[in-house]
Amino acid sequence: GSVYTGRFRVWRGDADGGELRDFDVEVHEGEVVLDIIHRLQATQANDLAVRWNCKAGKCGSCSAEINGQPRLMCMTRMSVFAPDETVTVTPMRTFPVVRDLVTDVSFNYTKAREVPSFVPPPGLGPGEYRMQQEDVGRSQEFRKCIECFLCQNTCHVVRDHEENKKAFAGPRFLMRIAELDMHPLDSADESGLDRKSAAQEEHGLGYCNITKCCTEVCPENIRITDNALIPLKERAVDRKYDPLVWLGNRIRRR
Ligand code: SF4
Ligand code: F3S
Ligand code: FES
Repeated sequence: GSVYTGRFRVWRGDADGGELRDFDVEVHEGEVVLDIIHRLQATQANDLAVRWNCKAGKCGSCSAEINGQPRLMCMTRMSVFAPDETVTVTPMRTFPVVRDLVTDVSFNYTKAREVPSFVPPPGLGPGEYRMQQEDVGRSQEFRKCIECFLCQNTCHVVRDHEENKKAFAGPRFLMRIAELDMHPLDSADESGLDRKSAAQEEHGLGYCNITKCCTEVCPENIRITDNALIPLKERAVDRKYDPLVWLGNRIRRR
């Protein structure tokens, strides 16, 4: 296959600051950006920090920004760039840098812990759960998430507004709430955990103005906005402002 010398600009530094550095690195046919980062590490920058694991788009570790676009390094083919184009690789912007291309994504783990897990229906034993295929399919789409946090990194609500991080869980975790709230067997409401009001009051659902940037960057092509965020907004609003829906819910639950 063909080989050429590609021009790369890679961010080097740590929490105290850093800079973009230029490198010339060999590019072989069929390679992805992560291959180049590995070659750079092996040949010119042995201490370059990069997080990766599967090289198959499945572990969600190698998230970064390539020419300013949030992407998985292992799923970005070099063939999408012209051989004379400089390819710039920087760490995700929304999370604090640890070193070089590695960011501290613990914000996401904090948000994950704030969402109560599935509450099984009382009195129903394992093996007695029954669900319609439609409901199974809906959950399955959301469960394709590899937790790359590219959607979390991209959403403008926190990307340029550090101060919103406290009040906003981000698309990945609002999607998790939507998944559980739409789950026909989840009994959180009955047990006093109101997922809809929590979404609005604790997880900042109202900050999302459905710009869909999260959906555009999702490597699993999950339709985060259309299938999770908008339905969750509709459910939360119905409940809060529509007295008939509210009354209907009360009656159905008796
Ligand atoms: Fe990544 Fe998509 Fe999951 Fe967001 S929803 S963390 S973009 S896989
Ligand atoms: Fe942010 Fe996605 Fe909503 S990008 S504003 S969470 S649609
Ligand atoms: Fe696993 Fe890229 S290395 S997703």
